[in-house]
Amino acid sequence: MKPSKVTHLTAKAQSPVLPTRRDIRFDLPAEHIADWNKGSVHLSQFMNTLSIFFPVGERFFIDAVRQYRDQITDPELQKAVTAFIGQEAMHGREHEEYNALLFARVPEAAQVERFVFALLENVKKLPPRMRLSATIALEHFTAIMADGLLGDERLLDGAEPHFARLWRWHALEETEHKAVAFDVWDTVMGRGTAAYLERSAGMVLATVIFWSIMIPAYLAVIRREGKLTDLKGWRYFFQQSFTKVPFFPGLLRPYLDYFRRDFHPWDHDNRHFLEQIDGTLGELRAAA
Ligand SMILES: [Fe+2]
Ligand SMILES: [Fe+2]
Repeated sequence: MKPSKVTHLTAKAQSPVLPTRRDIRFDLPAEHIADWNKGSVHLSQFMNTLSIFFPVGERFFIDAVRQYRDQITDPELQKAVTAFIGQEAMHGREHEEYNALLFARVPEAAQVERFVFALLENVKKLPPRMRLSATIALEHFTAIMADGLLGDERLLDGAEPHFARLWRWHALEETEHKAVAFDVWDTVMGRGTAAYLERSAGMVLATVIFWSIMIPAYLAVIRREGKLTDLKGWRYFFQQSFTKVPFFPGLLRPYLDYFRRDFHPWDHDNRHFLEQIDGTLGELRAAA
């Protein structure tokens, strides 16, 4: 389907960072798929369940942005779009390998991926601007989770190093490209009331749909692990993500910022995390 007619082609990319595609492999150890984070099945499988969404989701993002590629005239944004597509393709590839380990252990996880794939195939039938609106909403979600992960070392403290590096790399690149799809949206949709309402509605829908798949999927994975009634495991999970380490409560404010009319992803300037990229790459080279 061709993108609908656009009237705002003057907006410029507002992002201070140009992302870079990096072809990196992680060779995750299969034997730690269920307990790689601090030996906790609940913590590890939460992030594994999140990983189910990436290969199919990121392919959807790439397609949504690509539809508008020929309408981008700003050379900086053109470059950023190319790098965005390259980064998401690499994430998809590495998370596919990651997920193969999960699917071998938890067949329900593969069913979840098939379900998400079928759902996104239906979403693809919607007008291109709605697909882009879903993409920028989920990119914001990914960006604030990446920020939370990079901002609190305790989240990956004591994690198996291959898994920790993969998550750190993904979080860093999500930070690097967090505004690319948004800048494409700004360019083609502008800043009018209709664009604002459509962007906000996209976030509400994306949030409801994402969590209504994510939570049952996570519980199915935990059930397969035989840990559904493991209260000690649950207590540790809540301590490490809600209370002692307040990862989820910390997402609320940046999440709500999205609904500000003048919001832009780089309003939340966390560029300083990107200084970690060389360190993470150095660790990868040393481990190879
Ligand atoms: Fe990604
Ligand atoms: Fe992304």
